[in-house]
Amino acid sequence: MTWWKTGSIYQIYPRSFQDSDGDGVGDLKGIEARLDHLVALGVDAIWISPIFVSPMHDFGYDVADYCDIDPRFGTLADFDALLAAAHARGLKLLLDFVPNHSSTDHPWFRESRSSRDNPKRDWYIWRDPAPDGGPPNNWISDFGGSAWEYDAATGQYYYHAFLKEQADLNWRNPDVRHAMMDVLRFWFDRGVDGFRIDVLWHMVKHADFPDNPANPAYRPEMGEMHAVLQSNSTDQPEVHDIAAEMRRIADGYPGDRVLIGEIYLPIEKLMHYYGIDTPEVHLPFNFQLIEAPWDARSLATMIADYEAALPPGGWPNWVLGNHDRPRIATRVGGPQARVAAMLLLTLRGTPTIYYGDELGLTDVAIPPDRVQDPRELREPGWGLGRDPVRTPMPWNASAHAGFSSAEPWLPLGPDWPTRNVAAQAADAGSMLALYRDLLSLRRKHAALAEGDFRLLETTGSVLAYERWRGDERIVVALNLSGEDQPFALPAGEVVLRTLPGGVRTDTLRGNEGVVILVR
Ligand code: NOJ
Repeated sequence: MTWWKTGSIYQIYPRSFQDSDGDGVGDLKGIEARLDHLVALGVDAIWISPIFVSPMHDFGYDVADYCDIDPRFGTLADFDALLAAAHARGLKLLLDFVPNHSSTDHPWFRESRSSRDNPKRDWYIWRDPAPDGGPPNNWISDFGGSAWEYDAATGQYYYHAFLKEQADLNWRNPDVRHAMMDVLRFWFDRGVDGFRIDVLWHMVKHADFPDNPANPAYRPEMGEMHAVLQSNSTDQPEVHDIAAEMRRIADGYPGDRVLIGEIYLPIEKLMHYYGIDTPEVHLPFNFQLIEAPWDARSLATMIADYEAALPPGGWPNWVLGNHDRPRIATRVGGPQARVAAMLLLTLRGTPTIYYGDELGLTDVAIPPDRVQDPRELREPGWGLGRDPVRTPMPWNASAHAGFSSAEPWLPLGPDWPTRNVAAQAADAGSMLALYRDLLSLRRKHAALAEGDFRLLETTGSVLAYERWRGDERIVVALNLSGEDQPFALPAGEVVLRTLPGGVRTDTLRGNEGVVILVR
């Protein structure tokens, strides 16, 4: 089986992984210096959030040059060195492709906004004002407020699904499509192993720009974007042809390059992005472990529904967290986060690990004067900001946790003197040790890496399932609560537990998960 099916992926938020030049912001040389941590952890690939030239209004998701590295992160030569160093260690490297929108600092947008008859005008989405002079329709930015920004010089509005500094590209224009496909080729030619594709389902909008319907379930704490359902501004049928073209490009390169789509949609719609008659992305990100209620019955139903919905040949994947969502240890608590790790790394499919989750990092409270995230700055106080999950990686107990020689761009969590890589590497009972053990089990047992999957009966708070390949059978049983639960462990060898000690065969202790090699 190909590497992206059997392997695991590790997401690096580059500003926060390792700083090498003392500006308090992580960079490519920093990542290179820390690759051995990832080798020791046992992951197979890294995905790095955007590192391209950017004014950083959305910390790199506003790209001003798709084919060069932002100086804060380094240079193209640093990138080539990082890629070579990763490959030398057997690690694959994925970049983050942001095709839906560019920075308004991108030369394409500057040209586009310069006049109505500029040849690049149609590269972005320009519309006349509504009869009352207001925005062309009711579409709301994901960061709150109208998604339309008025340009007084040319008398039209441009569309931005995110910040006004992130203008949506017009993917119905073949020249845009061509130019952006060339971006994929540029990095594939350089040797990258694939891409995570930002907001893939946003890329095409309804051709007539009708209003979005009101969301009957809207509550303000959800964020203003949820006031309407994005049925006309996202997930249009034409996006699938674009995804299929990206796939053809990826498949045209040797060495199993992979495309992973960021798509937040209900399961049936998500599955479409595997492609129906024509292949699309290899892995449409499955975010359900982020969104499902954390109890055995809900998770069992969700897993069964997801497995059942996969198209023929569609390979599953799982995610516990990312740079946009609360950290797993905050959502479920420290002891249960160990159970969550066991779940992520023993389900059928490719797992993606968010940096720092292997230490059990929690969301870090950000003092108001240190808030950086535009999401928080635009709709403050609802807990929508993403800074708390983007804080620096704590490496050791030295100044600034070994992350930087200077004050980091975001504060470290208060527990960094003890919760850091060096301390946990020396502690067999640590979260890091558990992640290493789980990843090494996946490598050792084909039943886990590529085997079949069957849910066992859910009893009380215990979620249990079986994985098998050939003669090898593995049962995973996870107690999703903090209370002891009766559970008859099958006969066999317990190869891993989330808790120390414990030999009972009729009970799972609170927050206990076990992996059993069945005899
Ligand atoms: C999704 C990314 O994950 C998020 O961080 C970003 O703000 C938006 N896309 C806009 O690019």
